[in-house]
Amino acid sequence: MTGFSRRVEQVSISGIREVFEAAGEDAINLGIGQPDFPTPEHVRERAVEAIQAGDVDAYTSNKGIRELREAISEKHARDNGFEVDPEHLIATSGGSEALHLVLEAHVDDGEEVIFPDPGFVSYEALTNLAGGTPKPVGLRDDLTLDPAAVEDAITDDTAVFVVNSPANPTGAVQSTEDMREFARIADEHDVLCLSDEVYEHIIFEGEHRSPMEFAETDNVVVVNACSKAYSMTGWRLGWVAASNRRIERMLRVHQYAQACASAPAQFAAEAALTGPQDAVDEMVAAFEERRNVLLDGLEDIGLETPTPKGAFYAMPKVPDGWVDEVLARDVIVVPGDAFGAHGEGYARISYATGIEDIKTALEVMRDATQQVA
Ligand SMILES: Cc1ncc(COP(=O)(O)O)c(C=O)c1O
Repeated sequence: MTGFSRRVEQVSISGIREVFEAAGEDAINLGIGQPDFPTPEHVRERAVEAIQAGDVDAYTSNKGIRELREAISEKHARDNGFEVDPEHLIATSGGSEALHLVLEAHVDDGEEVIFPDPGFVSYEALTNLAGGTPKPVGLRDDLTLDPAAVEDAITDDTAVFVVNSPANPTGAVQSTEDMREFARIADEHDVLCLSDEVYEHIIFEGEHRSPMEFAETDNVVVVNACSKAYSMTGWRLGWVAASNRRIERMLRVHQYAQACASAPAQFAAEAALTGPQDAVDEMVAAFEERRNVLLDGLEDIGLETPTPKGAFYAMPKVPDGWVDEVLARDVIVVPGDAFGAHGEGYARISYATGIEDIKTALEVMRDATQQVA
């Protein structure tokens, strides 16, 4: 039999790509999920140096070079208030591989994975690939995930719940109190909390706290990456932080599926984490300015938008037919239901693009709104 696995047949190619491909060449792209800034110069230079010194020609250790894991460990102590031994980290091919490792190593056939809806598309797909059962949970009106809703959704079959703050596609930031609650729920229900913190640094209001800081057991694992904070999506460098026994299980997957993260990217990531952080601050300031322009514009048009406090997405409520009208005018936005059934009636607008384009796009959105009113 040369058929395909049931697991892979449950997953389809992301709807977001289809939106891009249908758009004209001159379209303004507010569908993008990556920063539009260059990778900082000193980060690029470190990779070039490592390549020229011949330091990247061989496999690294499966977990990643020691220097990088030490830098990640120091970063967590400095920024996140928790200690993680460099041995309890695996450098991965982006945050994506890290998410895959967590689910593959912890979810048995049919076990449930709870995740925010609307939420990042990988949670459902990777749950299916791991043989698990996706259990999307709707959000509060401000588009944050309610710990009480997670707790209600937990059954004897639940293996994992996912927390993502700041969040894609909503831009929502969970409060410190929520993060404490997520840690308590993981501890008390003996369920794993997967905290996806890839947008950690892109935050304008509130502060990022990790549930790992509050957990009393090893039931929280953290996924992070250089992709968004350092504008390094193409480098493919992320990591997972967890306890020894969890890392040992995830390494079983990583060593056979990946061997090690790309060596040049590992050197570059070490430079990103230990070097000057000005580029991050500049990027965050630019995102905040664009967010404010976008929010003012959407309010002026009359589209209700929960205030995004982080990442680089806004999610206004939009009338029926609105997304199609916007797309027909060559502005790319993503329909909210691409991120889960509860996303219906919303659109995701990325502001990882220049302010002039955002202003032009707002005029198009005004036009589209009048058209469907
Ligand atoms: C919430 C979230 N987690 C993880 C990722 C994966 O990031 P990476 O590019 O590091 O694989 C993304 C990318 O868009 C994301 O939005």
